[in-house]
Amino acid sequence: MNTTQPVALVTGASGDIGSAIAQALGTSGYHVIGTYVGAADAAATTVDAIKEAGGSAQAIQLDQRDPEAIEALMDSIAEEHGRLDVLVNNAAWNIGIPFRRLDDLNADIWDRVLETNLRAPFLLARAGANLLKAGNGGHIINISSAGGISPGSSSIAYSSSKAGLNHLTRCLAVAMSPEVAVNCIAPGLVENTRMAQRLPENVAEEASIGDLAPEGLR
Ligand SMILES: NC(=O)c1ccc[n+]([C@@H]2O[C@H](COP(=O)([O-])OP(=O)(O)OC[C@H]3O[C@@H](n4cnc5c(N)ncnc54)[C@H](OP(=O)(O)O)[C@@H]3O)[C@@H](O)[C@H]2O)c1
Repeated sequence: MNTTQPVALVTGASGDIGSAIAQALGTSGYHVIGTYVGAADAAATTVDAIKEAGGSAQAIQLDQRDPEAIEALMDSIAEEHGRLDVLVNNAAWNIGIPFRRLDDLNADIWDRVLETNLRAPFLLARAGANLLKAGNGGHIINISSAGGISPGSSSIAYSSSKAGLNHLTRCLAVAMSPEVAVNCIAPGLVENTRMAQRLPENVAEEASIGDLAPEGLR
């Protein structure tokens, strides 16, 4: 077990933004554990890019809607690496449902969005808390969205999940300080990403950081 190299867990490292975050950490000295749910090839591409740049990384399949799978992942990190320095809660799921089409947002879609985007970041933080605290300098970075600040983006469920993630960030900061710093990043629309392509057409046409962010952030 190599316990000298810091370890970063990046969820959704097969996705557009997660891959970029994983590569940034991988070229900054972290051993990166990048998760994916179905896109094994994309996760492998992220790992290969980190290795080609001289870093170390591995891809692990995780359906973060499954609480037991989250616990098992953290147990394996403790066993294999003995430490966790950074948790990036990046993975998320969305589907384009215009806000006014209330009837289209059924309970199953609501649950899938909230379980993936809000419950899982909490469960990952909870399961990783002892490892993150042990280093006395741990970090959690939650990837939220401008849609969590003002009512916009792909659906009411997505916007609500990200608003919840913003507040979860504050609550975890209280729960885990001073050993762990908990922060949140809320990007506006990132063009040409898979997630942006799932925005309802009218939202995508109008969306820009200026449209989605509250006035103070424009
Ligand atoms: N793209 C944007 O315009 C934008 C704007 C604001 C905020 N964000 C936020 O930025 C983050 C990354 O977005 P992105 O554009 O990179 O999205 P993306 O390309 O769609 O990637 C989403 C990632 O989440 C993973 N994922 C989905 N469901 C999962 C589940 N049940 N369990 C585990 N992993 C799951 C996907 O795995 P697979 O690849 O294996 O399916 C993928 O790695 C998200 O939190 C998103 O809300 C994005």
